[in-house]
Amino acid sequence: MAILVTGGAGYIGSHTCLELLNSGYEVVVVDNLSNSNVVALERVHKLAGKPVTFYEVDLLDKEGLEAVFSENKIDAVIHFAGYKAVGESVEIPLNYYQNNITGTLILCQVMQAFNVKKIVFSSSATVYAPTASGEAISEDFPLGATNPYGRTKLMIEEILRDLYVSDNSWSISLLRYFNPVGSHESGQIGEDPSGIPNNLTPYITQVAVGKLKQLRVFGDDYPTSDGTGIRDYIHVVDLALGHLKAIDKVMTTAGVEAYNLGTGKGYSVLEMIHAFEQASGRSIPYAIIDRRPGDIAICYSDASKAKQELGWVAERGIDEMCADAWRWQLNNPNGYEASEESMSIVK
Ligand code: NAD
Ligand code: UD1
Repeated sequence: MAILVTGGAGYIGSHTCLELLNSGYEVVVVDNLSNSNVVALERVHKLAGKPVTFYEVDLLDKEGLEAVFSENKIDAVIHFAGYKAVGESVEIPLNYYQNNITGTLILCQVMQAFNVKKIVFSSSATVYAPTASGEAISEDFPLGATNPYGRTKLMIEEILRDLYVSDNSWSISLLRYFNPVGSHESGQIGEDPSGIPNNLTPYITQVAVGKLKQLRVFGDDYPTSDGTGIRDYIHVVDLALGHLKAIDKVMTTAGVEAYNLGTGKGYSVLEMIHAFEQASGRSIPYAIIDRRPGDIAICYSDASKAKQELGWVAERGIDEMCADAWRWQLNNPNGYEASEESMSIVK
């Protein structure tokens, strides 16, 4: 069975490609490499002992995408491709709407033309309206994104729901990720942000390895146990395995459903720093500064729907998340470097 993975060279996509190959799927990747490196797919190939078919194609290029569907018999699609930086989306919203929304529209049009009607979409916990309640967030919580990036996710969810209403033979999973962290245990693939990281764990790992001087902790006056923000960090391999369960679901049932992918547990920024210090044996210097605008105090999932309906539960805890993130950083202090691997898989 062949799965088309859009954005498969990226952080979550590359980990998902590896798990798909390990489970016996054929994998076809479409990625324009705007935020990734083909070396990630070379490494996936080596780890799995099986190749990925890779097309350097932009989702906005409809003819290029049609060629991919003509040349491969695709059974289902996992759709990761998109821009994802919240701050940047506020600065250049039109680019975000064009890339994320138009890219998805073109993908769905081509899928429809080739009669491929099974899709797993990368949504985000950012689609939930901010809440001060401190409760676990379930899928029926009020929705309401607070920035253009989040609005693209919410709009795409709605577009996919409309598509299902128009044609009940579609089968659609909307996966709302909480905070993906860590990397494959081999330390060969991982998160490779360009520039200074926005997110907590890549920032911590770069401080630990000496690339950045100290972590800035955004506020210690939140109504939480130690005053710092609490999030539901989920190991990227658990997240990848959630996609395999969602593929099982879309292969067997028509419909459209949203699922939270999280652990159901929250950790504070200080708890993450300490777990990382334990995992790496290095100290993480930090300074408490003002809150980051737009941040909320507490965000963690109720992941029981994914357990009941997909049979998926996150199994890896924060010690493993931190140890794996550290192994990746130590092995690859500058992220992926194009030198050692060949470009033989590029179509
Ligand atoms: P990533 O940037 O590493 O991967 C996205 C990939 O899509 C990149 O390889 C990029 O080159 C590619 N891409 C972007 N636009 C494209 C286009 N028009 N055509 C072809 N390829 C294109 O990001 P990630 O962290 O792996 O995230 C994957 C998905 O999950 C994204 O949709 C993101 O919004 C969503 N998500 C991520 C997080 C997170 O914290 N990482 C959280 C929630 C949701
Ligand atoms: C951010 C995005 C969210 C996205 C998620 C994906 C914002 C406002 N939100 O969420 O849309 O879905 O990433 O993972 O950007 N922190 C620090 N210092 C840092 C970085 C972060 O103290 O240098 C704190 C934050 O205040 C927060 C926690 O660490 O309490 C996690 O932050 P981050 O990794 O950026 O994720 P989110 O803010 O949850």
